[in-house]
Amino acid sequence: MSTTEQIEAQEPSGPPTLPARAVMDASFKLIDDHASRIFTWNYDRERDQLVTLYNKAMASQWNSVTELDWSIDVDPEREIDHDTPAMRLAREVARVPGSPIASWKDKEFTQLGIEMLKGNLSQFMHGEQGAMMVAAKIVETVPWIDAKYYAATQTMDEARHTEVFAKYLHTKLGEAYPMSPFLEEQITVLLEDPRWDIAYLGMQIVIESLALAAFGDMLRRTQEPLLKKLLRYVMADEARHVAFGILSLGEHYKELSGPELKDRQEFLCENTLRNKSRAATPEVWERMGVSFEAVVPCIIDAAQRTGTSPVASFQRGFFAKLVPNVRKLGLLDANDGYLREQWGKAGLLEFEFAEDTASDFEAYDAVAQDRAAAS
Ligand SMILES: [Fe+2]
Ligand SMILES: [Fe+2]
Repeated sequence: MSTTEQIEAQEPSGPPTLPARAVMDASFKLIDDHASRIFTWNYDRERDQLVTLYNKAMASQWNSVTELDWSIDVDPEREIDHDTPAMRLAREVARVPGSPIASWKDKEFTQLGIEMLKGNLSQFMHGEQGAMMVAAKIVETVPWIDAKYYAATQTMDEARHTEVFAKYLHTKLGEAYPMSPFLEEQITVLLEDPRWDIAYLGMQIVIESLALAAFGDMLRRTQEPLLKKLLRYVMADEARHVAFGILSLGEHYKELSGPELKDRQEFLCENTLRNKSRAATPEVWERMGVSFEAVVPCIIDAAQRTGTSPVASFQRGFFAKLVPNVRKLGLLDANDGYLREQWGKAGLLEFEFAEDTASDFEAYDAVAQDRAAAS
């Protein structure tokens, strides 16, 4: 029996319950990374921008125990915003003829909102653990000492992010959801690839841009002070991580051949144009006692009828970060503008000249801003 089947077997219907702790604890995943570790004997600090970024990373480390107020009491029901695109769409789903949630009242919609919040925070937590492992892989595989130093600070940042999302879930909201198979696949591919720059491109540029958009989306919608501060502090670190990727890859990609750059352009197409399934969250519906297969046609119907997409604003935020960052790497125009053409057809180039994260990462540094205000 698979883990999902075991969870379903425990929850045939009725109000949402959580999987047994043992079901979650019993599963772990082994990944072979196929990459060579590089020991360098050149300790010269040759990359000034990476030195500056490393110094900033050391100065803006924050303490997850003393700088966040974990005594704040969180009432999940009070935190649910019923006016988000996803919640408005859920109300429309209930109005579709034959909808499995036609009988839902405010209580069930509020519980759905709580499950969606737990679902999102769970994916953040799992993604952060993946980021911690990718950053550790970069420490081992990148040939430059300045990049090894920086990636080591990032590994610590990602450990802190994993820890605070796990602590928030466990102490304020309840048990986590399993990792989404789409996110798991996306990170596994990076850990298995022998090329060090693919770990960078996939994590520092694609997933970190995605994370900045997703955290920013949640930050705009929550009023809860602990979650707000936690997200501001995590985003301060993430923006630096994207800048690290842009600075490192910008240098490396000047030396790659046309076919090698084409591989990287294809990788970006795969992660943007062909990989749209990550938004699906079947477990949230299943924990509400609703069959995902039964509700999906109603979601599609409601989305088409009202012209709403629960992920549209988040996707715009993602591309507004990603596209200018990729432009800065020179990947839009390599190979006669192959990626420019692909993304142009998909309407993504409107973001080409938005501010890139190598230029605006200091604006995210809420840690430095709070410390300056307190002194
Ligand atoms: Fe992170
Ligand atoms: Fe990060």
